Amino acid sequence: MKKILVGNWKMNLVSLEAESFFASMPINREITIGIAAPATLLRGLRDHADRLGILLGAQNMHENKAGPYTGEISAAHLLDAGADFVILGHSERRVLFHETNDQVEKKVESAVVEGLSFVLCVGETREQDEEGVGDEVVTHQIRSALSSLTEPNLKGAMVAYEPVWAIGAGQPATADQIEEKHQLIRDELIKLFGEEGKNVPILYGGSVNADNLEEILQIPNVDGALVGGASLDPQTFNEMIEITGESS
Ligand code: PGA
Repeated sequence: MKKILVGNWKMNLVSLEAESFFASMPINREITIGIAAPATLLRGLRDHADRLGILLGAQNMHENKAGPYTGEISAAHLLDAGADFVILGHSERRVLFHETNDQVEKKVESAVVEGLSFVLCVGETREQDEEGVGDEVVTHQIRSALSSLTEPNLKGAMVAYEPVWAIGAGQPATADQIEEKHQLIRDELIKLFGEEGKNVPILYGGSVNADNLEEILQIPNVDGALVGGASLDPQTFNEMIEITGESS
């Protein structure tokens, strides 16, 4: 499996900034690169993404295909705008916008039906970690989001382990913590999908930067990284592309 580097721009960068970012990005075919951009930028970035051979993603979508949901965007809209994938269940959606496991499951189903790849984000909060229920929380998030899928639907599916307490914190989880949770997620994927569960990439996210990426990519069952803050600066992101390429 090629190593994967996905940038999550969150609610940052406007079109001119995004285009100059893409203009500076190197072509690297040794790894899989993705950028999850604000939905309004997708169409304008599509040609650049094709030239670079990278995946273009969105950061959220509504679970229904169409209807009276003012302000919402569906999988069909994202595909129409040029997205290859969508991030689902990011903790900022779960915490700030009260997204439930039930909704995340419906979004996963809708993405699969429409043929949109997805990165399912899971991870425990600081309180859940302190209460010792982190493993249960992550297992439940995985099971509820993916249990209705069958093996053929797994094509294009990725999971990102993002401990909520490590996001934007400046300090990632320790190598031991990452290894333990990635093993838990891998075991769960194998329980759900048998051999095919071994092929679902598991990314780590939470304060990944150019200084810690190399070490994180060496951890067993870490197939790549989902990067927030450090993906906003083109120079830093290009450095991370190089590091990921060297770790492949
Ligand atoms: P961070 O964000 O890299 O800024 O910690 C990661 C994420 O939220 O996906």
